[in-house]
Amino acid sequence: MRCYLAVPENDGYGADTLIALNRGNHDFRGNAVKRLGEVMMPRLASERKLRDIALDRNFAIRMGEIALIGLDTGEDKPDNHPANGGMSQFTAYRKAQALWLKDQFERREIADAPYIVAFTHIPILEVWPGANPGTLLEDYAAWQKECAELWGPILTEHGVQLVLSGHLHCYKYHPAAEGRSWATIIGGGPGRNFQTLVEGKVDDGSLLVRVHNTDEGVVVAEHRFPPRSVS
Ligand SMILES: [Fe+2]
Repeated sequence: MRCYLAVPENDGYGADTLIALNRGNHDFRGNAVKRLGEVMMPRLASERKLRDIALDRNFAIRMGEIALIGLDTGEDKPDNHPANGGMSQFTAYRKAQALWLKDQFERREIADAPYIVAFTHIPILEVWPGANPGTLLEDYAAWQKECAELWGPILTEHGVQLVLSGHLHCYKYHPAAEGRSWATIIGGGPGRNFQTLVEGKVDDGSLLVRVHNTDEGVVVAEHRFPPRSVS
């Protein structure tokens, strides 16, 4: 993990800027997984219903004019893949998150947010024709079709403007389209592309999102999103 957290001397990290963990497929593997909670605490049980008690990595947080929603796409292989040894139930986990996601828009601070950005480690949009949708026993997911079908319509129903993802190690931008309110930005990474830092702020009546290439210290793209029409 490359650390982008510049911690000022004598200041606690996260004192001024929200720090939240969006779990990726590799965060379900290896012995270190057991100690993830020591790196980043799970969300507090008091944040969610008893029904959602297992969803300790999902978050929906309002920061100024922006609401941030964290969803967990889980592993990059289907539950019946031999590599999972019959131990995984990611389909059920994703369905449970769909129920949780619906409820977040009942919260006034989320429903009223002019801008909503969701985070998913694996993209929930087909990233190129024929890309592995995560339902095959061969290779691994390039995108998560199951999550797209479960969560995508809920995000569109509520006019979410942007889904930020990773996983591919390759910067990509897909604009919103007919029947889909949200654009997708996929961050780059080592091996295939530049290291990416995506920065967002409300600027001049829209959400301005800058994509930085941190290897070279340059901004490679800027995207603007208009506010939601909040009724
Ligand atoms: Fe990944």
